[in-house]
Amino acid sequence: MNRKWWKEAVIYQIYPRSFYDSNGDGIGDIKGIIEKLDYIKELGIDVIWLCPVYKSPNDDNGYDISDYCGIMDEFGTMEEFDELLNKAHSKGLKVIMDLVVNHTSDEHQWFIEARSSKDSEKRDYYIWMDAKNGEEPNNWGSFFSPSVWEWDEKTGQYFLHLFSRKQPDLNWKNPVLRKEIYDMMKWWLDKGIDGFRMDVINAIAKNWSFPDAPRAEHNTMKYVFYPQYYFNQPGVHELIQEMNREVLSKYDIMTVGEACCVTTEMARLYTGEDRNELNMVFQFELMEIDTGEKWKWDIVPWKLTVFKRIMSKWQKGLHNTGWNSLYLNNHDQPRMVSRFGNDKEYRVESAKMLATLLHTLQGTPYIYQGEEIGMTNVKFDSIEDYRDIETINFYNIAVNHEKIEPNSALQSIYKIGRDNARTPMQWNDEENAGFTAGKPWIKLNPNYRSINVKQAMENKDSIFHYYKKLIALRKENLTMVYGDYTLLLEDDEEIYSYIRELNGNRLLVILNFFDKEPVWKLPEGIKYKDARLLLSNYEVEQEEEISEIKLRPYEARVYELI
Ligand code: NOJ
Repeated sequence: MNRKWWKEAVIYQIYPRSFYDSNGDGIGDIKGIIEKLDYIKELGIDVIWLCPVYKSPNDDNGYDISDYCGIMDEFGTMEEFDELLNKAHSKGLKVIMDLVVNHTSDEHQWFIEARSSKDSEKRDYYIWMDAKNGEEPNNWGSFFSPSVWEWDEKTGQYFLHLFSRKQPDLNWKNPVLRKEIYDMMKWWLDKGIDGFRMDVINAIAKNWSFPDAPRAEHNTMKYVFYPQYYFNQPGVHELIQEMNREVLSKYDIMTVGEACCVTTEMARLYTGEDRNELNMVFQFELMEIDTGEKWKWDIVPWKLTVFKRIMSKWQKGLHNTGWNSLYLNNHDQPRMVSRFGNDKEYRVESAKMLATLLHTLQGTPYIYQGEEIGMTNVKFDSIEDYRDIETINFYNIAVNHEKIEPNSALQSIYKIGRDNARTPMQWNDEENAGFTAGKPWIKLNPNYRSINVKQAMENKDSIFHYYKKLIALRKENLTMVYGDYTLLLEDDEEIYSYIRELNGNRLLVILNFFDKEPVWKLPEGIKYKDARLLLSNYEVEQEEEISEIKLRPYEARVYELI
């Protein structure tokens, strides 16, 4: 057990645009975050992860950066950022920043110069290719538009963009560019920030031969979305090791890489303690559990046995070799209570049950703003009300090219669209949920009248108070952080149960994942004298025998076995 502060920390993710608006322009801002630091502290959080606050034309809500060392006008100023950092630190909160260096905005000075002429000094900061037979260099499909290639009329070449055409990919082969990025990272770290969440960091090395992607039989689209060619390419580890050598190793910070398509074997390479790369990665295997054949918009039912298999694979796979990050939602995913719990009758119970899972596994838990009050997915009537570039592009392609009924496209958006997580934070039951005094940049979820922070703080049985207890428990109990993990009842389709063990201290976790009332039976061979209940989301008779328990809908219990 190699103790580290970032293993024992709980992280709170802020999507600034939707967190708290201090000046009435309808957009959350840095001053708004400063005002809410005490709220975050009260929950027991150690680290805040700030989604991008840099200068940006906002084609992808800040993930298209036009100046890495400037603050987005709508969010405030660098002085306000400094104030946020100081105030957070004075309250014992660390702050990590989103680092988006796979691509910039096309409005970044580097790209403006690069596209001005083929001879520009900055030309090679990006990835340019000639046309092939008058068309794109290959058939790759992008995340946010049909092709990954965009034609540049003036210089007569295509440039690569895995995301929107306003997010050109940087050329990490270029050492001068790499040095600029490292200097920029040091500039932020010298300011005192505590680490980075690295956006699509495993995409920085490209498949430099740019082969055509294989086309699945049913696929009639001209461009093929094929992430296997975009991520984890040869050379990526050398690049991250260089970044570690040049920058990360010089500071006591934490790093988490967003890593689409990683297996546990790959994650061991990114996070292995002897590898000098990153502390942990966000893996996507669980997030793909309900993905059908046509990538994310085709949603299929998920099974608990598969869910457990995935989680267990990661628990075992990184044990003593790397480190897990634990999340069930973020700004790119639907709300966890709507996806894996029950956002109706059992919203409170199921949100607490899912939280119990996240905080009792091995790894660092991430809470996404609003999760701690059980915020849910949203259903807007019209596509006009959506703001997310990915959602709007999907809708247009589905309706205009694939001739899918608008209503059926909306049904997919209701389940998986990113705006589910981006509606404003619900602070109280007043107008606009107390998020803004102006017109919010995106509509609110109308359920804010009953689901909001004020209500949650006043009610001692709320999800918020349960999170507080869970976080406090994890702080006292190193077994929750470092203990070995043993899955029980592997084939059970309703109950997720496991044991965590550290130096003879054992925790038993029992989670009922649905609204049925299954009976949990203690598997043979588990010996104990006494079982002490540490936490539950229902009232439990203390003296109850644990060899057989009839669970209530979405019931969660954590016992210490003595
Ligand atoms: C992952 C980010 O989380 C997402 O919001 C963004 O659209 C893409 N990377 C591109 O930066």
